[in-house]
Formats: sequence, structure tokens, C-alpha cells
Amino acid sequence: MTDMKIGNLNHVAIAVPDLAAATAKYRDQLGANVSEPQDEPDHGVTVVFVELPNTKIELLTPLGENSPIQGFLDKNPDGGIHHLCLEVDDVTAASAKLTHDGVRVLGSGEPKIGAHGKPVIFLHPKDFCATLIELEEA
Ligand code: CO
Repeated sequence: MTDMKIGNLNHVAIAVPDLAAATAKYRDQLGANVSEPQDEPDHGVTVVFVELPNTKIELLTPLGENSPIQGFLDKNPDGGIHHLCLEVDDVTAASAKLTHDGVRVLGSGEPKIGAHGKPVIFLHPKDFCATLIELEEA
């Protein structure tokens, strides 16, 4: 089992109940560059990208009936930090290594194509300091 080395922080994802209000906060109160809202039906979210010099923040709100973030918003009606996304060179190798270490990879354990068209896995928050971690192939 090869050692793995974590790469850049790709994004911090924040679930919000009101995407327009959240976008206005980042744009108007912080002076951030923000994208237009993008529907991602395959992922059950609408996203606004907040571009920062060294990384980005993704503001997520549910799209459609079975959004994966609906449960989070039910528990956290004001929204909150949903996950961190860290880059790795090889997400398949990372999944195998972490599974071997006893970390639960959500779903089948096989990488899926994430919101940016790259393979991703998610690590169980109970195995990672109560934080949902997305690993994305750089
Ligand atoms: Co993400």
C-alpha cells in the first residue's frame, strides 16, 4: 500500500437555504467574485462558485426531490459547512488505501464523477473528525 499525500484544498462547500441571499452576502459584503447559479441535476444541487485567490467556496442549495443535501438542511435549517474537498493524484488508490486503514468510503467505494467532471469519493464524517471529506482527482 503506497503512502498518499494530500494536495490542495479544492473547495469548501456550504449548504444554504437561500442561494440568492447567500450569494449576495459573499458578493456585496465581502466583495467576492461569484458565478451565476448552475443547476447540477445529476448531483441534486444548484451551485454558485465563490472564486477566491487560492481556492473556492461552493454555495449549494437543493435541486429536485432527492437532493443529497436536503437532510443536512433539515438538521441545519440556517445552512452550514457541508464538506471540504481536497485534491489527490489518484482517487482510486486513495480509496483503496483509506479503506485498508478502516476509513469508510461512502457509497460503493468506487469513485464517481463529481460536480467538476472529475472522479471523487466521499469519506464518512464519523471517521474524519465529524467532517464530510470529498477527495477529488487533481
Ligand atoms: Co464538493
